[in-house]
Amino acid sequence: MRILPVVSSLVHCFVPAWLSKSYKSQNAVGDSTIDDPTMRLNPFPTLLSLGICAGIVSATYLNDARSLQPRRQTSMLIDPAAQPDLPTINAATAAANAVNLNLKDIQGDILIGMKKKSELFFFFGISNAKDFKKNLKSTILPLVTNTAQLLDVSAQPQTALNIAFSQTGLRALNVTDDLKDSPFSGGQLQDIANLGDPGTTNWVPEFVGTNIHGVILLASDTPDNIKATLSSLKAKLGNSVKEIYSLQGAARPGNQEGHEHFGYLDGISNPAVQGFQSPLPGQAVVPTGEILVGENGDGVTGRPPWAKDGSFLVFRQLKQLVPEFNKFLTDNPIRAPTLTAKQGSDLLGARMIGRWKSGAPVFLAPLVDDPVLGADPNRNNNFTYGAPGQTTGSSNATDQSKCPFSAHIRKTRPRADLGLPESSSSNHHIVRGGIPYGPEVTPNEAASNTTKTERGLAFVSYQSNIANGFQFLQHLWADNARFIHAGVGFDPIIGANQGAPRVVTGLDLMNVSRPITLTTDFVVSRGGEYFFSPSLSAIANTLSV
Ligand SMILES: *[C@@H]1O[C@H](CO)[C@@H](O)[C@H](O)[C@H]1NC(C)=O
Ligand SMILES: *[C@@H]1O[C@H](CO)[C@@H](O)[C@H](O)[C@H]1NC(C)=O
Ligand SMILES: *[C@@H]1O[C@H](CO)[C@@H](O)[C@H](O)[C@H]1NC(C)=O
Ligand SMILES: *[C@@H]1O[C@H](CO)[C@@H](O)[C@H](O)[C@H]1NC(C)=O
Ligand SMILES: *[C@@H]1O[C@H](CO)[C@@H](O)[C@H](O)[C@H]1NC(C)=O
Repeated sequence: MRILPVVSSLVHCFVPAWLSKSYKSQNAVGDSTIDDPTMRLNPFPTLLSLGICAGIVSATYLNDARSLQPRRQTSMLIDPAAQPDLPTINAATAAANAVNLNLKDIQGDILIGMKKKSELFFFFGISNAKDFKKNLKSTILPLVTNTAQLLDVSAQPQTALNIAFSQTGLRALNVTDDLKDSPFSGGQLQDIANLGDPGTTNWVPEFVGTNIHGVILLASDTPDNIKATLSSLKAKLGNSVKEIYSLQGAARPGNQEGHEHFGYLDGISNPAVQGFQSPLPGQAVVPTGEILVGENGDGVTGRPPWAKDGSFLVFRQLKQLVPEFNKFLTDNPIRAPTLTAKQGSDLLGARMIGRWKSGAPVFLAPLVDDPVLGADPNRNNNFTYGAPGQTTGSSNATDQSKCPFSAHIRKTRPRADLGLPESSSSNHHIVRGGIPYGPEVTPNEAASNTTKTERGLAFVSYQSNIANGFQFLQHLWADNARFIHAGVGFDPIIGANQGAPRVVTGLDLMNVSRPITLTTDFVVSRGGEYFFSPSLSAIANTLSV
């Protein structure tokens, strides 16, 4: 099937006319926060979430003359029961109206989170800027899928397209405005020391030696749709771009849909963004401007007006050593008296993550998985690490009986460890929008305890400030052995120590002060880049002229 641009007449007009807004210069947080020695800033959410209404679609196939392209009857997005649902288009429109947000001007991937069934990342260089600008306006812009379109199944294209630019890409387009984000300006390679990577040894070579000017994200429910869109796009872009690298991601099959390659349900802890959705119990609520530039809660001033309603996109290719991780669990079961060795291994894995494979948090299910809890989005995120009923003060600073301080979801969203009530003015929230890549583990790989074919997570996060968002979480929390308390050690999942062994405490329920030394990085950074995902009006009025 041929994919043609979505024409505006196919899109329901639910969003009010474009409303121009003044920039808020909220209490300047800016770069000073990164130097806070205590790192006791605010909470933010980590693992993903959001949901879609995939099955409950009532779109009709209108085969009228306006329909130049196939209309969707089922959503392109996935909808694991345990993840928070995406808002309905009506609910999102009401929320957006309340804060004067124009969901039609915001690229669709930013607020949707980890809901893609199939997604391709196409990294490109701009070879001829003049031609590229023409193509950006006439070919790419009409294909860019906005947020409102993705929420409305009948408005979804066969293949959604988003585009984002690196700093070198903006320069190639003669756009010299300072976006006031130093990690973005320098690029990810220059930020490598802050991320814990052991140099570029493991990096995909294209992320090291090449100027990647931008990335096109193509998402659909089938890889064939994506292939068709890509080949038609490439034909139209001709020599104005050159392909540098691409990575195909896919939701895992069957009942693993929504789970990352180690097997744990992902996406539960994405924040509820004001102007987009209402929170489930325990879900962090973040001001719009923590994710979208120029909105309420974006503390950075002096950015060019066209940057408003864009978001910084952090891309990281995170390889996961699944058989190696499983062997580590098998070899180191927690020896609780009531548990079998297998249960002890499962418990070790759950304590490393902070959740069971079902998504049930260990804080609420400390010894064995509780799949009913895991599947219930009203309960699976409803905890603070505080005592039951506690509404002020901090969590118990020595109690790791339910969840280690080092657990991945606790390191990256410490909730009551940073004090109660969990502040809504936190500036360390990100929306995670990544997708698994690579094949399932083969029986041969499992038996040999060795990864033979690369798989992992195509990590994507959106935030209005990389230093307060992704970089903060990775550098000052996950990689910081003193966070949240001295002796806690690294995040055992994503924490990185320049390739050196990582010491972690709290994992052994029978002796939480026993340090465990991880000599393998089960998650290996293969590098990436920092991008800016502009609003549709910025593409039309600034980047393509
Ligand atoms: C970029 O600016 C330079 C210098 O002003 C100019 O020569 C060039 O044509 C511009 N390129 C584009 C694509 O606008
Ligand atoms: C969420 O947790 C609170 C405090 O533990 C409890 O009172 C409330 O009933 C829970 N909500 C749901 C939906 O389970
Ligand atoms: C904190 O947790 C520790 C270890 O479980 C326990 O001994 C202590 O009584 C707790 N403190 C409070 C104030 O609940
Ligand atoms: C894989 O690891 C398991 C658990 O340690 C061990 O029993 C098995 O012998 C290993 N297999 C190989 C081929 O090394
Ligand atoms: C717990 O681990 C610590 C550190 O390894 C050790 O010193 C201590 O003896 C252990 N406690 C018990 C009860 O085994």
